[in-house]
Amino acid sequence: MAFPNGIADFRSDTVTHPTDAMRKAMSEAVVGDDVYGEDPTVNALEEMAADLLGKEAGLFTPSGTMANQVAIGTHTRPGEEVVCVERAHVRNYEHGGASANFGVAFRPVATANGEMTVAQIREAAAGTAYHLPRVSLLCWENTHNVSGGTVVPLDVMRAGSAAARDLDLAVHLDGARLWNAAAASGVDAAEYADCADSVMFCFSKGLGAPVGSMLVGSGDFVAAARQIRARLGGSMRQVGVIAAAARVALEDRARVVDDHQTAKHLADGLAARYPTAVDVAAVVSNMVVVHESGLPWPAEAFVNALESDGIRAAFITPGVLRFCTHHNVDITDADRVIAAADKLDRHFSE
Ligand SMILES: Cc1ncc(COP(=O)(O)O)c(C=O)c1O
Repeated sequence: MAFPNGIADFRSDTVTHPTDAMRKAMSEAVVGDDVYGEDPTVNALEEMAADLLGKEAGLFTPSGTMANQVAIGTHTRPGEEVVCVERAHVRNYEHGGASANFGVAFRPVATANGEMTVAQIREAAAGTAYHLPRVSLLCWENTHNVSGGTVVPLDVMRAGSAAARDLDLAVHLDGARLWNAAAASGVDAAEYADCADSVMFCFSKGLGAPVGSMLVGSGDFVAAARQIRARLGGSMRQVGVIAAAARVALEDRARVVDDHQTAKHLADGLAARYPTAVDVAAVVSNMVVVHESGLPWPAEAFVNALESDGIRAAFITPGVLRFCTHHNVDITDADRVIAAADKLDRHFSE
C-alpha cells in the first residue's frame, strides 16, 4: 500500500516508513550504552543475526556502507587489492571509501549479472606475485543491485569462494538484500553465508526497517571489526531504539516474497505492452529494470507522467529505469504504473 499521502515510491526499497509494530518496539526497547556492550536489544539482535547466518558473532552498524567498509578494513592492509564485480556497490557507490579509508584498490571482474566464474576469480587474483600487489579479498554482492536484483546462484558462489580461499583470499558477502536472495532462490541464507568469512546485510532495504545493517563473522573477526567501526565513528550509544525496529523487520523477513510478487506483476504488465523493454525472466526479486530502448516514448516522459500521478521511479543509468518494490507499495500501485503507461500511449497516439 502506498504512503498515506497516496505517493507510491518505487525509487528504492530504502524509502520505506517503519510499520506500527516497529514503532511500538522502538518505544518499548530496553536500552543501554552499546559502546560498553550494555545494550541488551542490540546484543540480542547481533546474536540472532549471527545464529541465522551460522556465524559466531555480529556487529550492528548505522549503514550498509559502513558495514562493507568495516569488513574491507578488517580483511585487508593498505596497498592490497579486492576482487569484485565491476558494478559492485563496494567499488562504485561508497564514495571511494575503500581507497580513502583503507588504501586498497579494486580488481573488477566484468559480468552481466553479478556472477563471477572460477576462471575470472583466478585470473583477477593472480596478481599476488613478484612486483604485483597482494590480492587479499573477494567480495560478492547478492542480490546484485545494478543488474536489477539478480541472484548469484549458490553453486557459483561456492565454486568462486573455494577458488579464492585456495589463493588465500578472505571472502566478504555484501548481502544488502540477502533475504531477498534467499526468498527468491529458496536457498537458506546461511548457505550463502557459508561461502564467506563475513556477511553484511541491511535492515533498511528489503526488510523495511528505518535504519541499520549487520556484519557477521567469526568472534575474532567481529572483535577486530568492532575497533574499525569505532575508528570510523560508527559506535553508537542507546541504539537499542533502532535495533528494536530492525529486529521486527528481521523476524518478518518472509514478507519479502510479497515484494517479489509485486515486482513480477509489474514486469508482466509492462512486458505485455513493451516486450523488449523488460526482461521478465530477469525479474526474480524486488526490482524491475525497464530499458528505454524498448519503450515507444522517452523514459523521461514516463517518469514525468508517473510523477504527476503520484508515482516515483528512478534511473539507475541513463536510459535504464528501475522500479523497486517494498512494504510501502503493492500490486494496486503496480497497476497504477501500468495505467500511467497506458495513458501515455493514448497521449502519444493522439
Ligand atoms: C548492494 C548494496 N550494498 C550496500 C549498500 C549500502 O547501504 P547503505 O545505503 O545502508 O549505506 C547498498 C545501498 O543501496 C546496496 O544496494
